[in-house]
Amino acid sequence: MSEDKEFYDIPEVLEYYLAHRRRPDNPNDALERPIFLELAGNLINLDIVDLGCGNAEFSSYALLQGARSYEGIEASSSMLDIACQTLAGTSGKVRHQSIETWRTKAEQVDLVSSRLALNYVENLKPVFQEIYKVLRPGGRVIISVEHPVITSNFTSLSEGRRNTWLVDNYFNSGARKHMWLGSEVTKYHHTLEEYFNLVTDTGFELTSVRESCPQRENFLSEAEYERRLRIPLFLFIAARKPK
Ligand SMILES: C[S@@+](CC[C@H](N)C(=O)[O-])C[C@H]1O[C@@H](n2cnc3c(N)ncnc32)[C@H](O)[C@@H]1O
Repeated sequence: MSEDKEFYDIPEVLEYYLAHRRRPDNPNDALERPIFLELAGNLINLDIVDLGCGNAEFSSYALLQGARSYEGIEASSSMLDIACQTLAGTSGKVRHQSIETWRTKAEQVDLVSSRLALNYVENLKPVFQEIYKVLRPGGRVIISVEHPVITSNFTSLSEGRRNTWLVDNYFNSGARKHMWLGSEVTKYHHTLEEYFNLVTDTGFELTSVRESCPQRENFLSEAEYERRLRIPLFLFIAARKPK
């Protein structure tokens, strides 16, 4: 597990994060959510595991759409408390566990999702192997991560709101320390090629790669939409375990 596994347990970080998520046109709601839900598609009768589920917001949508079960995996106890509130009165569950130590019986799950959480995991290979194991044949995995052009270098973030995005040290994958939500965090940079190889080497069939191209209707502000046309913030990969 990364040394920052309890990053979201720092009270100021959690406060900043929740405020960030309430901001109009925040990237999670304006960019990540629409593409993730489009990739997720039909959820009827699916057993879903959500790695790094945060507040388990996806559970509300998934269960409403007819998913058979939802289980979130979350390392932060503060986030876990919020997830428990989200899941109260539903059939959804959340496990206090790290993605790295998560294990489930083979072929029990139809969809494994992980939204903006795998950037905190150093070694993704065993995680993808576990995802492959737990999926039923034909089951799907959908991940969103901060885009490699963003994670390559965080220098321009130190200026506050970015006006330029420096891409540097791209092929030097690994840890990147930077200030995020008021505290120092370690994230792990992987190139696009590495994500691709990770998925296909595990045995998955790649079904979609998306780069968070903004859609005007998802933004309240024209200026924010224009700004998001400048550089991709997120990378999405969807893949299927062969039948
Ligand atoms: C940016 S938040 C995203 C939350 C949620 N997936 C969403 O999209 O709204 C990242 C979440 O991943 C969790 N996380 C980070 N590293 C983790 C790990 N190694 N194991 C489990 N959860 C982790 C954090 O605690 C946090 O709740």
